[in-house]
Amino acid sequence: MPAIVLIGAQWGDEGKGKATDLLGDKAAYVVRYQGGNNAGHTVVIGREKYALHLLPSGILTPSCVPVIGNGVVIDPAVLLEEIKGLNERGVDTSKLKISTNAHLITPYHRTIDKVSERFLGKAKIGTTGRGIGPAYADKINRIGIRVQDLFDPSILRQKLEGALRDKNQVLIKVFNRKGIEVDAVLAEYLGFAEILRPYATDTSLLLNNALDKGELVLLEGSQGTLLDVDHGTYPFVTSSNPTAGGASTGSGIGPTKINRVIGIVKAYTTRVGSGPFPTELLDAAGEKLRADGGEFGTTTGRARRTGWYDALIARYAVRINGLTDFFLTKLDVLTGWEKIPVCVAYEINGKRVDELPASQTDFHHAKPIYESLPGWSDNISSARKLSDLPENARAYIKYLEEISGAPMSAIGVGPGRDETIVVKDFV
Ligand code: IMP
Repeated sequence: MPAIVLIGAQWGDEGKGKATDLLGDKAAYVVRYQGGNNAGHTVVIGREKYALHLLPSGILTPSCVPVIGNGVVIDPAVLLEEIKGLNERGVDTSKLKISTNAHLITPYHRTIDKVSERFLGKAKIGTTGRGIGPAYADKINRIGIRVQDLFDPSILRQKLEGALRDKNQVLIKVFNRKGIEVDAVLAEYLGFAEILRPYATDTSLLLNNALDKGELVLLEGSQGTLLDVDHGTYPFVTSSNPTAGGASTGSGIGPTKINRVIGIVKAYTTRVGSGPFPTELLDAAGEKLRADGGEFGTTTGRARRTGWYDALIARYAVRINGLTDFFLTKLDVLTGWEKIPVCVAYEINGKRVDELPASQTDFHHAKPIYESLPGWSDNISSARKLSDLPENARAYIKYLEEISGAPMSAIGVGPGRDETIVVKDFV
């Protein structure tokens, strides 16, 4: 059995947790391959609601092994807190595996994230302030601290000293902050070592062995296509590659092992943080989408920006990720609208444009061109097959499928685990 990638097709928060959770029953492994605790998955099982930031949502599926791959940046304090919180609710986390090559977020990364955002003023990215960007910057700059360094105290000290030599200069002289003591970070991080040791392993070997045995591996992206550092709305992006190529690098699985890439796409659009968003609604309609969809960040609690479905983004996600299917989420949130606009093209400087512009300036100037579809008023949460849906809801799905360029193979009609229409099985 091959590997499957699940990836957000828009700006994140598409409801990936629900999709992963649905497939988790069939998967032997559920892997996170990038990002850190900037992510937020909400999974609803029965009456219980779980908000996960760092752990793969597969942690809630007893039959599967959750894996944090080498491409993830880990804040150990947050990880241990999340594990403890789940254990207190009776969730077994003992099967968790963490790559020894994954990088660690440290207190100086968090501090630098916050102060540099403050210094950017109006040009700020609107980061989650969790130290994600600075931790990835150190990885690329080859001064990062990895999980395996926790198990070698003298190496850990050497690496912390090396990193803090520069950071403290910047913190004190540029940002006017106090320096960070090597000894304090060392003591705190050595404290994490013994707790993390049982989980740490060569996850690339583990996953490749599983694939060789014919087991199903699910690779779960965080954030979304347009937050990708290479393919997103740079610089208003996260610092890793959520897109499908990142699944291979961030887990140590070759691309030939992946045969399905599922894009999770919301029936409308949201984004957190700054940056262009052509279909954004700044009026009462946007407020209504936010309220009906509960569009407040799982990680930061920030109100999400809201807007109509944008087919150019969906088509772009198909192209960049090689999507084989879409999982359309939150269709129920659109119940009650008389008309539902869908963005089919942009107008940029008086010209119609059918693909996402390659220039950021053009993207900032893009104005949506809409087609309006008739809405529906019946509650659709109990629908379990397409034929249970009102005709106009079916027509909306069909239209999205036609203009987006990949089949809508599953449709979310409510937050619960079972509130899904499976049009075509993924495995
Ligand atoms: P960072 O990942 O904290 O560096 O933030 C960079 C950008 O990505 C900001 O606009 C964040 O709001 C956004 N972002 C990061 N993680 C998520 C997520 O899980 N969902 C939606 N937006 C996110």
